[in-house]
Amino acid sequence: MTTQTQTQTQAQDPAQSQSSAATLPKVARSRAELAEFLAPARAAGAKVGLVPTMGALHEGHGSLMTEARARVGETGQVVVSIFVNPLQFAPGEDLDRYPRTLDADLELAGARGVDIVFAPTAEEVYPGGVRAGETDEQITVEPGPLGSVLEGATRPIHFRGVLTVVAKLFGLVRPDVAVFGQKDYQQLVLIRAMAQNLCMGIDVVGAETVREDDGLAKSSRNRYLTPEQRTASLALSRVLRAAQNGARHGLETALLEARAELRSAHKVDLDYLEIRLPDLSPVPADVAPGTEARILIAARVGATRLIDNMPLVIGAPAPAQA
Ligand code: PAF
Repeated sequence: MTTQTQTQTQAQDPAQSQSSAATLPKVARSRAELAEFLAPARAAGAKVGLVPTMGALHEGHGSLMTEARARVGETGQVVVSIFVNPLQFAPGEDLDRYPRTLDADLELAGARGVDIVFAPTAEEVYPGGVRAGETDEQITVEPGPLGSVLEGATRPIHFRGVLTVVAKLFGLVRPDVAVFGQKDYQQLVLIRAMAQNLCMGIDVVGAETVREDDGLAKSSRNRYLTPEQRTASLALSRVLRAAQNGARHGLETALLEARAELRSAHKVDLDYLEIRLPDLSPVPADVAPGTEARILIAARVGATRLIDNMPLVIGAPAPAQA
């Protein structure tokens, strides 16, 4: 592992250096710096693991970093990218107010033993130019039909932006393994499909969603919630658990139980609630008992759009809860 010690950063931010004894990762701001930092590992044949993020890191991201380390081993390099990607935000979405917290992000990455943080400018990622939802570059990655359902139904340009930036990050970092959260389940399925369909030779790993003690899935957007809205948001995980429990009696019961739970929720404006197969294809009417599936929800609480999902098994006992 290559690290930069906390003492080296004292001149930059004394307050930060007092708060933690963790080592900080190297910070690459350009493609050239990234290549330079990765060169020794590449020469030594060490594995490289990538965790792509948009920053505002929390313990959910931390678990992805730990997973990446487990996959590449102590001799490998863990790279976290931090880039708020304009192409995946439609004009009017929260691109400008998306939280940017680089100092705290470096602390968290350092505490998780990350070697390199790649925090490029927009020009480094899109030399041809980029704005919210648009790029002047000619080549982008189209997600296909799965990009226009669920999240894609209300955010039609979103997954083109996600796949394009992730393809660029894969090309720049050239990781052996890339770790994404199951929280953004549709994103995970699409990225995995992209890596397979475009023969990228990268192992795409989905790490389990990290939750607060009360069940709320950790998300960078949770910080937008007022205390009252945060309480209202707990309905999402309750709805998913109700579906998991109902699923033992079949698909219809799972949805009925979930909708009943939703009716008791306040200030939660539902966008979608759907059960699909793990690859996000529709569940067939004659689904066999014991079939694994996924329930996905999106809802607005105040001005904040939240998503969550959980696995379930149709026609089988619900999993024991921790
Ligand atoms: O999940 C995210 O944070 C982003 O969509 C990603 C994968 C980093 C692409 O910008």
